[in-house]
Amino acid sequence: MDVWKKIAIHTCGILLMCATFITIVNAARPPLKDNACATCHKDYGAIIPKTHPDVGKGAACLSCHAPDAARTEATKFSTQIHKVHQGEKTKLECTACHAL
Ligand code: HEC
Ligand code: HEC
Ligand code: HEC
Repeated sequence: MDVWKKIAIHTCGILLMCATFITIVNAARPPLKDNACATCHKDYGAIIPKTHPDVGKGAACLSCHAPDAARTEATKFSTQIHKVHQGEKTKLECTACHAL
């Protein structure tokens, strides 16, 4: 077998492994706890991003940003929430929000 065929086969194998890994990671959407945010945040008006569309003060974030089991990729909301709580402002265990 020539070297290019070997490289091609190895590349396919690696891509397949990556695809499988991503599928497994996405399939494991850890459910949120009940009242996941209210445990720590009483005043939603204080944590709403400055650039947020005007939704008034005090509405629970998850009433609009509801988890959708059919969605597999991260949203701007979940990305931002993870970033804030994983180093930017504080450092929380996954289980602070997720029922694992
Ligand atoms: C275990 C406690 C805890 C839980 C649960 C928690 N947070 Fe936080 N959160 C914090 C702390 C501590 C900070 C950093 C201090 C601050 O800004 O209030 C923070 C900061 C934030 C900020 C940034 C506020 C700013 O100053 O810019 C947002 C937005 C936020 N949280 C949203 C959420 C949402 C939405 C949830 C639920 C999915 C949640 N938090 C769950 C503790 C928590
Ligand atoms: C009344 C509905 C509603 C409520 C309540 C709400 N949001 Fe939003 N949020 C939206 C809409 C609409 C958008 C813009 C569309 C989008 O990006 O999903 C948005 C966008 C965002 C974004 C992405 C901003 C960007 O970078 O484009 C973040 C982060 C966010 N919201 C955080 C929060 C947090 C934290 C709370 C609770 C304190 C909250 N939202 C409460 C409706 C809501
Ligand atoms: C401050 C609360 C909070 C913490 C801490 C947190 N998450 Fe999340 N996570 C969320 C929210 C809110 C969502 C979006 C809800 C949904 O759509 O299911 C989410 C969604 C997810 C998703 C689905 C993909 C996505 O990004 O939307 C994965 C995977 C995930 N979290 C993993 C983790 C892991 C692993 C940790 C610990 C390293 C962690 N989370 C810590 C709040 C949190």
